Amino acid sequence: MALANGTDFALLNGPQLVENGPRLTPAPTIDAAAPLARHAAPDHRQALAFRHVSKHFFRDDGSSLEVLRDVSFDVPAGSVVSILGPSGSGKSTLLNMAAGLLAPDQGKVLVLGHETTGAVDWSRLGYMFQDDRLLPWRQALGNVALALEAGSVSRQERRERAQAQLAVVGLGDFGSAYPHQLSGGMRSRVALARSLVTEPDILLMDEPFSRLDAQTRTSMHNELLRIHRERGMSIVFVTHDVEEAVILADHIVMLSPRPGRVHTEIDVTLPHPRLGTPDAQALVAELRAAIAGMSADWVI
Ligand SMILES: Nc1ncnc2c1ncn2[C@@H]1O[C@H](COP(=O)(O)OP(=O)(O)O)[C@@H](O)[C@H]1O
Ligand SMILES: [Mg+2]
Repeated sequence: MALANGTDFALLNGPQLVENGPRLTPAPTIDAAAPLARHAAPDHRQALAFRHVSKHFFRDDGSSLEVLRDVSFDVPAGSVVSILGPSGSGKSTLLNMAAGLLAPDQGKVLVLGHETTGAVDWSRLGYMFQDDRLLPWRQALGNVALALEAGSVSRQERRERAQAQLAVVGLGDFGSAYPHQLSGGMRSRVALARSLVTEPDILLMDEPFSRLDAQTRTSMHNELLRIHRERGMSIVFVTHDVEEAVILADHIVMLSPRPGRVHTEIDVTLPHPRLGTPDAQALVAELRAAIAGMSADWVI
């Protein structure tokens, strides 16, 4: 099956992100003139700011479901912030608001200092989903290049940038492989490359490694932290896994069960790598105890 490029792109940004009823996904606008190496930290102090954000959805029977209540927190530019919360606490909803795909009922969301009420500049945002959303009819290179197709980047440049990005994630020799020919970890790397190829200032990650086995997941964590060290982009990493949050984040925002409220915020200053270190294990234990005190039904 081969679809026109526009259709492929629409699939990537996906109908799963649509709010109750029809709501159009904002057209991605990728600035062809954007410099390839925009690695310096953005000059805004806060990459993202949530200010008193509340949100509800309507269920199919018309009743209202309160999902987020008065949520406020910041994502300082260049930091890795993990949103940690049980299933249904509104984590994905927060990311979709950051991407401008959903609007808060109350409060506001600021991206690089701008409220997300207007069109969102997708060239500044990368989004990595829980499912890798690779198009099976495209080779790895074409899947990565897809993120550049909405702009006016030439085909040649798209391919060059996609190839370079695949090399960054260790798949320089796999550009012509189709998704079914790749392991779960490799597919995850292709999805990571696709979310990075536009050189975003902010990377939104929604439980992106939750389907990987423990060993592969650890290598993706190391890969992500290495790329973050090199590029200095801001990362918002959603997870329900306490250990994953502790391994990755500079700052953890812990949500309560639905309706999601900010239960605790913690700065994590431990040096990397953290996996298995006594300090990291102690923090994991502390957070798990806080969760047990908050709710007996932290569902994953
Ligand atoms: N578009 C929608 N319409 C109705 N309910 C929704 C919609 N999106 C999410 N929900 C509900 O809102 C709650 C929070 O969803 P979500 O943000 O996906 O939570 P999390 O990512 O923390 O698991 C869930 O109960 C989910 O079923
Ligand atoms: Mg979710």
